Amino acid sequence: MAKYQDVLKDKVVVITGTTSGIGRRMATLFAEQGAKVVGSGRRENLGQEMVEEIKSAGGEAIFVKTDASDPEQVKNLIDKAVETYGRLDILVNNCALEPQIMIKDLTWEQFREVIDTNLGSYTMATVNALRYMVPQQSGKILNINSVTREQIVPGVGVYSLAKAAIHNLTKVVALEHARDGIRCNEICPGLILSGAFTDPAVREWAKDSIENGTPVPRLGTVDEIAYTALFMLSDELDFLNDGSLFVDGGRHLI
Ligand SMILES: NC(=O)c1ccc[n+]([C@@H]2O[C@H](COP(=O)([O-])OP(=O)(O)OC[C@H]3O[C@@H](n4cnc5c(N)ncnc54)[C@H](OP(=O)(O)O)[C@@H]3O)[C@@H](O)[C@H]2O)c1
Repeated sequence: MAKYQDVLKDKVVVITGTTSGIGRRMATLFAEQGAKVVGSGRRENLGQEMVEEIKSAGGEAIFVKTDASDPEQVKNLIDKAVETYGRLDILVNNCALEPQIMIKDLTWEQFREVIDTNLGSYTMATVNALRYMVPQQSGKILNINSVTREQIVPGVGVYSLAKAAIHNLTKVVALEHARDGIRCNEICPGLILSGAFTDPAVREWAKDSIENGTPVPRLGTVDEIAYTALFMLSDELDFLNDGSLFVDGGRHLI
C-alpha cells in the first residue's frame, strides 16, 4: 500500500528548475501524488524527459523552457501554467546556480547572474503567482533555500547573499498575504546528493565537511527534500506560514 496517496490531487504546481536534482524529484513525486506539474529550466531535452517520465507513469505535466534570470520568461512560465490548467495552486521556487567564487574575485557580471537567477527568479515568480493567487484567495509558495542562508562557507558567498534574502522574501509574502489564504514557507537543505555533489571529485573534496561538519554524517537525498516539500504543501498544514525547516542532518548546529 502507498504510504501517501493523492496528497496534491488536482493541484496545479509550478516548479522552477525541474531538469535535474531536487526539482526533478519534486516534479515526479508531486505528479505521483496527483498534481498537474508545470516544470521549467533551460535544458529542454531534460525537461521533456521529465514530462515523458511523468506521463508514462500516468501523471500530467508540461515543460516550459525558461531562463529564470529573465523576468519576462518567468512571467511567461506562470501565465502558461494558468493557460494550460486554468489556475495556479502552488509555486515552488527551486532553481539556482552555485558558482565557487571567493568574494574578492567577484565581478559585477557574476554578481548579477547569481542574484538574477537565484533571487530575481524567486521574487518575480512570486509576484506573478500572486496575480493569480490573490484573486483566488488561495495558494502556497515554497522556497527551496539553503543552510548557507546563515552558515557561511568560503567560496559560496554570493550564493549565500541570495539565500539570506530569500529568507526575508519568505517572511514578506507570509505576512502580506496570510489573509488572502496564501501561505509561504521555506526548506533549508544541507549537503544533498544533487547539483555539484553528483560529481565524485566534489564529494571527495567535501569528504571532511560531510563526515565531520554534519552531525548525521552523510549527504542527504533528493527524496528527503521532496518528501519534506510534499508534507509542507499538504492541505493539512494550513497553519504553517513562514515555516522554515532545516533538512540538513543538523549541519546548521555546527
Ligand atoms: N545540492 C545541495 O547540496 C543543495 C544544498 C542546499 C540547497 N540546495 C538548493 O536546492 C535547489 C536545487 O538544487 P539542486 O541541488 O537540485 O541543483 P541542480 O541539480 O543543479 O538543479 C538546479 C536547477 O536549476 C535550474 N537553473 C539553473 N539556472 C537556471 C536559469 N538561469 N534558468 C532556469 N533554470 C535554471 C537548472 O536547470 P537548467 O540548467 O536546465 O536551466 C536545474 O534544473 C537550489 O535552490 C539549491 O540552492 C541544494
